[in-house]
Amino acid sequence: MKVTLSVIKADTGSVGGHNRPSDAMLAKAKEQLAGVISSGLLIDGKVTFTGDDIALLMAHTKGVDHPDIHKFAWDTFLETTKVAKSQGLYGAGQDLLKDAFSGNIRGMGPGSAEIEFEERPSEPFIVFAGDKCGPGVFNYPIFEAFANPYHNAGLLLAPEMIAGFTFTIMDVNNTEADRVISLKVPQDYYDLCILLRDPNHFVIEMVVENATGLQAAVASTSRLHNIAGKYVGKDDPVAIVRSQKQFPSTGEILSPWALAHLTLGDNRGSHHVAVMPVKQNSIISFFDGPTIMSAAGYCVHEGKLTESVDLFDQPFWDLIRTKAAQKTLDIRAQGFYGPAMAGMDELEYTGVIQNLKRLNEKFTVRKHE
Ligand code: F6R
Ligand code: MG
Ligand code: MG
Repeated sequence: MKVTLSVIKADTGSVGGHNRPSDAMLAKAKEQLAGVISSGLLIDGKVTFTGDDIALLMAHTKGVDHPDIHKFAWDTFLETTKVAKSQGLYGAGQDLLKDAFSGNIRGMGPGSAEIEFEERPSEPFIVFAGDKCGPGVFNYPIFEAFANPYHNAGLLLAPEMIAGFTFTIMDVNNTEADRVISLKVPQDYYDLCILLRDPNHFVIEMVVENATGLQAAVASTSRLHNIAGKYVGKDDPVAIVRSQKQFPSTGEILSPWALAHLTLGDNRGSHHVAVMPVKQNSIISFFDGPTIMSAAGYCVHEGKLTESVDLFDQPFWDLIRTKAAQKTLDIRAQGFYGPAMAGMDELEYTGVIQNLKRLNEKFTVRKHE
């Protein structure tokens, strides 16, 4: 059967700062989800959290961008916001940037990644959910899994994968409209590298397998980054990646995260830190970070979801977590200097820019006699 997986995620308030949603908020989201499973809007669903964001994973047959699904997610986040307000939580409704729902949740604050496909006899997939980062965090690991045979020799071994994949990349700095480009590997390999090297500007939105035409991965890439010409902060992205058989294996998709690559996010969305792969339902702590990424593996069958396997909850990743913490401490030791912090166009707070304007007026140009 044809199934749609929708993951919609938002920060609607947190306990103790920007750290995690409350149990009451999670209970409300679960109650809402149970309601639409019994009404038949969804076949199945799950509620998880990563840092201060609640993620709704929804399995249904309505297709992507369906107004009823998006409205359900929006209404659920309004409900969790109400709970957050009633408990006096911090940042209640933080990611709900518009007053009224207008048919599609994209561009309204929450992140959404959706994929529709004909179920394979066994349909394994991974839901990645990040906090304190932008969607560019996926550029490196998705490129490694779907384009780099040095990292993933499976690309050379599986007959369907040898013809490569097509990447859709979005220019997230273009505020007027979705500006996208499609590049195929192996043909456009270097062109793809030219774009992906700038993960705050050019971001992977989708990956399709060339031999089969099947969608393999989608990410919650959006122009939220610069909504209405104003920088509104990092999007705290999600991605859905199908695995096994004609796609990279679950392990091949996970292994690039062992680099604990540096990304932009963390405290005030304005620092470069190493991404820490974490267990489900992990919180935010050191320096309002570090940037975290969780990975939940599922199978879906006739729209029913299995329990999840917590893919970063394995002793191997303890070493990577230590490495990520060490890399973050190393760059944090550099304070505000140079590459430790974001460039001017990525700073989430306006303090530096305002102070520069003030200082600018005090500069004098020295005249040589
Ligand atoms: C980053 C984040 C936090 C806040 C920081 C200041 O995404 O959520 O690092 O930017 O805690 O928050 P405010 O300005 O709300 O006090
Ligand atoms: Mg927050
Ligand atoms: Mg968040």
